[in-house]
Amino acid sequence: MVTINGIHALRDSEFYHIKDVVYRECGIRLTEMKKALVQARLMKRLRDLKIGGYEDYCHYLNDNYDNEIINLINCITTNKTDFFREPRHFDFLREVALPEFEHSGRNAIRIWSAGCSIGAEPYSIAITVSEYFHDKNMPDIKILATDIDTQVLQKGEEGIYCVNEVDFMDLEILKRYFKRGAGENEGFFRVKDEVRKLVSFRRLNLHDESYPMRGHFDIIFCRNVIIYFDAPSRARLFDKFYDRLADDGYLIMGHSETLAGMTSRFRYVGHTIYSKVV
Ligand SMILES: C[S@@+](CC[C@H](N)C(=O)[O-])C[C@H]1O[C@@H](n2cnc3c(N)ncnc32)[C@H](O)[C@@H]1O
Repeated sequence: MVTINGIHALRDSEFYHIKDVVYRECGIRLTEMKKALVQARLMKRLRDLKIGGYEDYCHYLNDNYDNEIINLINCITTNKTDFFREPRHFDFLREVALPEFEHSGRNAIRIWSAGCSIGAEPYSIAITVSEYFHDKNMPDIKILATDIDTQVLQKGEEGIYCVNEVDFMDLEILKRYFKRGAGENEGFFRVKDEVRKLVSFRRLNLHDESYPMRGHFDIIFCRNVIIYFDAPSRARLFDKFYDRLADDGYLIMGHSETLAGMTSRFRYVGHTIYSKVV
């Protein structure tokens, strides 16, 4: 039997058990191709728990389900993100959506970053909104940032990023909206309070039957999240987004994600941006 660092390789039966739990809990479909990835990511968890094998981990998970499921999900999620990732969406926000909302006479704008990872997306939204309204009367802006992974939410809440995470950003924007660390914080950048106060981080599983928030959002960003969901989970999610979106609002998906063939309740605007059919 092959062992890695003294731990047996993940067996099919153990992989299927974890795969079923992950699918049931958060709609993420782990294909056979993800087996090596699951094994590698869980290895660290096994070491932290001083558990000697994946079979024992499956028992541990069953016995401590409510606490351990959060850690398992934290291990499994893929959190890749960047500030101003897919820049056309931020151009759209600045050039189309915000002017429309401003002219509609709204005194409040609500934006949801669903699957926000470490906060790069909601802070990019907050910076774009701050830039747009810097010489205008700023309406009441609230950006809700949600994710299933508690570790990324904690990082988002802290709003501290290392130089590699911000080095593609426009230098003027970096200076205006981030505080550069000095001394032992050299090499780190902290989002300034004026931007941080626009964003609230909360844990939310998009796979849940219903969501606790009240009211409608003017824009929902859900980018690079549904790639891990199967068709029925996606269809259910689009229905929930439809109900949560203002009639003149926009749903923004990742550049490789489409609603085509999944729902007829949204109209394609361009660049994976959708509006509601009302
Ligand atoms: C690849 S990141 C994308 C981050 C950001 N939206 C972007 O495009 O840069 C996907 C995020 O979706 C989150 N996620 C995956 N399944 C989820 C679920 N069922 N509910 C909420 N968040 C989920 C992951 O934890 C991860 O942080």
